[in-house]
Amino acid sequence: MLKKTRLRLVTLSENTAKWLWLLGEWGWSILVEADGLRLLFDTGLGSSAVHNADAMGVDLATVDKMALSHGHVDHTGGLRDVLERMRLTVGHSNFLELRHGGIEVIAHPEVWGLKFIKHPGEEEYSFRGIPFQKKELEERQGARFVESREPVWITDNVVWSGEIPMLNDYEKIVGICYLQEEGKDVGGGAGFVPDPLPDDAALYIKTDLGLVIVLGCAHRGIINTVHHAQALTGMDKVHMVVGGTHLIKASDYQMESTIRELKKMAVDRVGVSHCTGLESSLKLAAGLGMDVFFFNNAGNVITLS
Ligand SMILES: [Fe+2]
Ligand SMILES: [Fe+2]
Repeated sequence: MLKKTRLRLVTLSENTAKWLWLLGEWGWSILVEADGLRLLFDTGLGSSAVHNADAMGVDLATVDKMALSHGHVDHTGGLRDVLERMRLTVGHSNFLELRHGGIEVIAHPEVWGLKFIKHPGEEEYSFRGIPFQKKELEERQGARFVESREPVWITDNVVWSGEIPMLNDYEKIVGICYLQEEGKDVGGGAGFVPDPLPDDAALYIKTDLGLVIVLGCAHRGIINTVHHAQALTGMDKVHMVVGGTHLIKASDYQMESTIRELKKMAVDRVGVSHCTGLESSLKLAAGLGMDVFFFNNAGNVITLS
């Protein structure tokens, strides 16, 4: 029988803010507390994760480790600031001291790809990758990257997904994401290829109510991610899906298929964030009902016990 998991999710950075003194900023960062572990998933774009943590009384020095959903800057731009807070930890006699052994950051090796965005009609490719050098984060901020393409079990009940298979015909990587191949020029489109985003990952948490799935951006699709979570954990019941769904600008076919699948699986709660978009949020709310749907923005705290 599954051990009862006490779970707390604190959204530190999202496009919109829930309440006074919190910052909204395009991006995503969420603190996951489960099995006695405090895990930060993504860091947001800029300073909002640190600011909102301070505003909410969340002490980043007590966070145990970090995981990344993918390499886009709106999920990784806060890395340096967050690591600066995490490298100081509470030591003997409650004094802050430098953390021994560095700060573990679980990520797919392709997060370091040279990631660009180009919208239809735009002439320039805009850099949207991690705005830091790995070496710099390791040497100056004490990061210790644990890179994997496979799932990484963090506790008995918490697993970082690794690569998510894309198995259906309605979830596709949006056509604005590009990679620049190493050693090629940025000018004139030379060296740019579509980014298949193998680094797009999520967190799966086994609870006595069912799976809780924490998305990053869901570039590989919310339904693909849910099915991967079920296959990996052996748990069919999905209690909650929360995070960025990347349904912004989704086709009618994708929206209808997504809503149909979520209803078929009888997901109890769906909390949308970040790259969902207002129009798709409204469609989800109408399709799933307000007893299932909710907005999940910066400052939201979800507790399961
Ligand atoms: Fe992204
Ligand atoms: Fe994103």
